[in-house]
This record gives sequence, C-alpha cells and structure tokens, in this order.
Amino acid sequence: MTILVTGAAGFIGSNFTLNWLDHCNEKIIALDKLTYAGNLENLKSIKSNYNFVFIKGDIGDSKLTAEILRKYQPRAILNFAAESHVDRSIDGPDDFIQTNILGTYRLLQEVRIYFKELTTELKNKFRFLHVSTDEVYGTLNIDDSAFKETNKYQPNSPYSASKASSDHLVRAWYHTYDIPVITTNCSNNYGPYHFPEKLIPLCILNALKGKELPIYGNGKQVRDWLYVLDHCKGIELVLAKGKIGATYNIGGRNEKTNIEVVNKLCELLDEIKPLKNGNSYKDQIIFVKDRPGHDQRYAIDASKISNDLSWKPEETFDTGIRKTIQWYIDNQEWVENIQSGDYMKWINKQYK
Ligand code: NAD
Ligand code: TYD
Repeated sequence: MTILVTGAAGFIGSNFTLNWLDHCNEKIIALDKLTYAGNLENLKSIKSNYNFVFIKGDIGDSKLTAEILRKYQPRAILNFAAESHVDRSIDGPDDFIQTNILGTYRLLQEVRIYFKELTTELKNKFRFLHVSTDEVYGTLNIDDSAFKETNKYQPNSPYSASKASSDHLVRAWYHTYDIPVITTNCSNNYGPYHFPEKLIPLCILNALKGKELPIYGNGKQVRDWLYVLDHCKGIELVLAKGKIGATYNIGGRNEKTNIEVVNKLCELLDEIKPLKNGNSYKDQIIFVKDRPGHDQRYAIDASKISNDLSWKPEETFDTGIRKTIQWYIDNQEWVENIQSGDYMKWINKQYK
C-alpha cells in the first residue's frame, strides 16, 4: 500500500514522513513544490529508502497530480502542503491564496476523479486527510474556553483565512461528492526541522549567535505549544481510526505567553550552553513593533481526539523544548544551509 504526502519537505511533513518510515513498511510518495520553506535536507536520511519517492511539484498542478494518482494508486492522501507563515501572509497574501485555496481545490478535483474510478473495496479504505490549524477559529480572550471542533470559524489573518477556505472546500467535497475526508486542526508546533523564521527556532538561533530576540508588542499573546512528533502521531491515529467527515482538534494544553516561551528558552540555554561572560541570554530580549491584527490567544480543547481515539501527547513543554534546543545545537550544518538566500532577505526586511 502507498500513501501520498504533500508538503513532505516542510517542518511537519518531514517529521511525519521520517517518523512514518521509521516504524511502518508502507510506501510514501512525497509531493512538494520546494518553496523557501521546503527543504530536501530534512529528508536526507531516507533518500535511498525503497519506500520513499520524492516528486518536486505543485498541488495546484492538476496534470501532475492526476499522473501521480494514476501511477501510484495511494490509499490515502495527507495534505500538509501550504504557505504557513502568518507574517509572510501579511506581507504578501498572494501565494497563500494560490496554494492554500486554489491548490487545495485543484488537488480535491483530481482526487474526485481518481476516487470515482476506485473499486468499492479501495473506496472504503481511501482517506483524504487535510492538515489544518487552530488559527481558523480566530482569537480567544484570556477567560474564554479553549477551541472545540464546534467553534465558529473566525480567521483574522490572510494565512488563517486561506486555511479556513481550504477547510471549507474539503468539507464540501465530502458532503457533495462523498470523498472520505477528515480534517485536523492543530495548535502551534515546535521541534526539529522548524524553519527559523518562526518564534522558537528564530530565538534559539539568534540567542546562540548573540543576536537580539525580538518579541512582538508586549509579549503577552498566548499560544498552545505541541511537540511536532505528538502532532504526527495524532495524525496517524486520525488516519487509522478517525471518523469520515469529522474534524479533530489537536493540542498540547501547553498555553504559554510568548515572553514565557522566550524566557524558558533563555534559561535552558543558560544551563546547556552558558555564556562565557556569565550573562544570561535574557539580556538579548528586545520588544519590537507588534504584528498587525495579532491574535491574542489560541488554546485547543483536545478532548474529542483524546476520548474517541485515545490520543495524548507524550512530551511536556519542558521535555519537548529541551530536545528541540539540543537538536538545533547538534545540527549546525542544517542551520547554516538554511540561513542563506531567501531567509536572510526575509529577516532583513521584517526586522529592519
Ligand atoms: P511549512 O511551511 O514548514 O511546510 C510547507 C511545505 O509545503 C513546504 O515544504 C513547501 O515547500 C510545501 N508547499 C508549499 N506550497 C506548495 C504547493 N503549492 N505544492 C506543493 N507543496 C507546497 O509548514 P508546516 O509548519 O510544516 O505546516 C504544514 C501544515 O500544517 C500546513 O498546512 C499548516 O497550515 C499546518 N499547521 C502548521 C502548524 C505549525 O505550527 N507549523 C500548526 C498547525 C497546522
Ligand atoms: P509564529 O511562530 O510566527 O506562529 P503563529 O503566528 O502561527 O502563532 O509566532 C508565534 C507567536 O510569537 C506569535 O504570537 C507571534 C510571536 N512572535 C514574536 O513575538 N516575535 C517574532 O519574531 C515572531 C516570528 C513571532
């Protein structure tokens, strides 16, 4: 059997792919456009695995998708491919509309054609799993209950609006065309292979290089952090046992303000890699201009996936963040390679 994983060279897609091939003997066809966020180095260790095929391409390329589906006959598609960075979506929403909305639409259309031709047995097995975000629910006040699957969609950024649109398309392809879809909405991930324009890897790497750690606004915005492998394991469970047409919220119940996260990173770095002059990495923290439309708080109520599928995260924030820091310290070559070209252009523009 075979599964098709889109966006497999990105942060979560590559963690999913590596973890899958580590414990499972089922082939992965990886489709990725290799945008600035896609990095084949993430998949270097499985390059010659006979269960791994990489195809460079766009989910919006209908002809290519049709060929892949015909040739490899996947029993499932996991759609990780997306433009995923909120700040880039504010700077230029175009790619987000193209990939997250139009790309998902074109992918769904090809899946529809493919699905129609499957035997009844294969139809019963087939799943289209769409990987989405908690940001589609908008923002919470400090005393609001965490997001449930029944919360209203109220996206506030071009990124979350484009992901919300893709979720609606996926839902409609189930109700209208009977495509067996499932959607997951996860909170903020962190861990290995995270592109260093997002808060946690940016601050780890800036700290190690003696650079400033930029906190937007007052740093009191709250995110609900989940170690990436716990997310990947949740996705596997949903693929195996999730209810067709359902949505599942995935989150770690690790609500932290941004300043708490960065302080914690600094304290761990002070312990793991103390500065020679005895100072704390905290001295590198600076407060910068806030993000426009900055969502105040995200928090996930994961009781559905926990009760129905017995999912629970294995890492606490303390264990996961320690592993993450160590990974960035141990993988300097990956870091050096990624911090070039487009990455530097973005950092110089964003933080002037
Ligand atoms: P990422 O930006 O690190 O990776 C996205 C990958 O998709 C990249 O490899 C990129 O090259 C590829 N891609 C982009 N456009 C494409 C296209 N048109 N065709 C084919 N491939 C394309 O993102 P990520 O953090 O790994 O997120 C993966 C998915 O999970 C996204 O859908 C995102 O919305 C969702 N998600 C992310 C988080 C998070 O904290 N990172 C949390 C919840 C949900
Ligand atoms: P980010 O990692 O971009 O994820 P998202 O916007 O999807 O939640 O940002 C996480 C939080 O950190 C968010 O509230 C914005 C904040 N942030 C900073 O304070 N400084 C930074 O340099 C970045 C990139 C983010």
